[in-house]
Amino acid sequence: MKGIILAAGYGSRFLPATKTVPKELLPLGTRPAVDYVVQEFLGAGIREILVITSRRKRALEDYFDREIELEHTLNRPERQAAIRPVDAGIYFRRQQTMDGTGAAVLLAREFVGDDSCVLAYPDDLHFGEVPLARQLVEVHTRTGDAVLALETRPEQEDISRYGVAATDGAASDPKVRGVVEKPPTGTEPSRHIVVGRYLLTTEVLRALERGYALHTTGEFPLTEALNEVAGAGGMSGCVFTGERLDTGEPDGYYRAVVRHWLQDARHGPSFREYLHSLLE
Ligand code: G1P
Repeated sequence: MKGIILAAGYGSRFLPATKTVPKELLPLGTRPAVDYVVQEFLGAGIREILVITSRRKRALEDYFDREIELEHTLNRPERQAAIRPVDAGIYFRRQQTMDGTGAAVLLAREFVGDDSCVLAYPDDLHFGEVPLARQLVEVHTRTGDAVLALETRPEQEDISRYGVAATDGAASDPKVRGVVEKPPTGTEPSRHIVVGRYLLTTEVLRALERGYALHTTGEFPLTEALNEVAGAGGMSGCVFTGERLDTGEPDGYYRAVVRHWLQDARHGPSFREYLHSLLE
């Protein structure tokens, strides 16, 4: 199984920082966000990963390269190991026109070939015992379906900024009948929001290709292909275990940063005291 990471966006919610630093390289602790997604993939046995990137994002490629000079300046083996590239095939392809997530995924069509793949939006980071991508693969192995990562959100919460799945069946891996992208409050088909991890089967990729052939102008989204496959009975949800941190906009990002640092074994305890002192 191969992995795709969509990292072509402008990161406009983080401007001006993202004029020069790709959003995916903003750190959580000492590692950039995209690194956690790659670790998640490796934890799911996915070792061939295509990053869809764009102009001005060359730093992403550099991050995954070897830094031999820097390694020489570090004297401790564990510090050298920390900057060594991961043991995986990481490839890059640039999206030249910003024509939507569906179009971005199609850039990975040849790379994926006649196989399923896991697609990640690196805004959503997952922490937990079982990597999220692995949980999706497990549902796929059991059902043969395409799989959406789902989170159940409480009644009172506004979920109108998410895709929301129409679901039925089992509480942990329900059947998905369709996805409504950003439904106005009160019209949500369920409380199951779609999180940025998708296991795409060849059926989804073929539906995307068919849709793109008919597409004329504007952004080409992923949703229609998902709905086509869901409507034909080929999609399940995975109500995953573990925690998702949404780093897609500054407020969520800062919450994620604080939360992550509080969990740091070395710095967490004194950081907690510092936060308390700020709030007194
Ligand atoms: C995208 C998807 C949406 C999903 C969300 C998860 O939205 O279109 O269905 O719920 O990611 O983070 P975006 O955040 O790009 O607006």
